[in-house]
Amino acid sequence: MKILLINACTRPKSRTLKLAKHFIEVYKKKNSEDEFTELRLYDEKELTYLDRRNIKLRNELIEKKQWDHPMFKYANEFAQMDRIIVAAPYWDLAFPAILKVYLENIFVCGITFAYDENGEIGLCNADKLLYITTAGGPLHGMDLGKQYIEAVCKEFGIDKFDYLLAEGLDVKEWDTEKILNEAISEAQELSLIW
Ligand SMILES: Cc1cc2nc3c(=O)[nH]c(=O)nc-3n(C[C@H](O)[C@H](O)[C@H](O)COP(=O)(O)O)c2cc1C
Repeated sequence: MKILLINACTRPKSRTLKLAKHFIEVYKKKNSEDEFTELRLYDEKELTYLDRRNIKLRNELIEKKQWDHPMFKYANEFAQMDRIIVAAPYWDLAFPAILKVYLENIFVCGITFAYDENGEIGLCNADKLLYITTAGGPLHGMDLGKQYIEAVCKEFGIDKFDYLLAEGLDVKEWDTEKILNEAISEAQELSLIW
């Protein structure tokens, strides 16, 4: 199985990435044949948002069905993976802008989704996506990033959406080490059945 880790974490001691790594470590012990690819979004120099110029090019390429163009490399990679893990800190009620830029790049009609007489159909191979995040404050059950990524799964035909959250990690009065350790235990438990 080919698994893509989309890493949208930038802080050197990212707790979100730590959570993701704990999940993957246990997962790998059980599934040693699986092949992981890590896409570090902040290292991707070619990853840019859509503007007037590249939207025009993109529309021309879609019209010609020229799916092998370098512009579609992220969309092709995403569509071909068997499983997806997204690790992104909770920023400004959702996730970092770089993850939205990445999503702009992979939302390609003809690669990750398409339209037919019934509306849209997902074209992605993956059966599961896991969204991992950590937040500074308590979220009170509302995470727009989670809602967004869950909606992406529906659009792309990815049936199962899983979610791991450690919240309140910047609340000094709380035992944040305990909160993170509990989330790590949850991650490890999920990795055994994922
Ligand atoms: C740019 C930025 C925006 C943030 N926005 C929020 C926010 O809206 N709500 C919140 O609870 N925490 C917010 N935080 C705190 C982070 O969610 C928290 O520190 C998280 O654990 C960071 O993850 P990391 O350790 O993986 O970098 C923000 C942090 C940064 C740097």
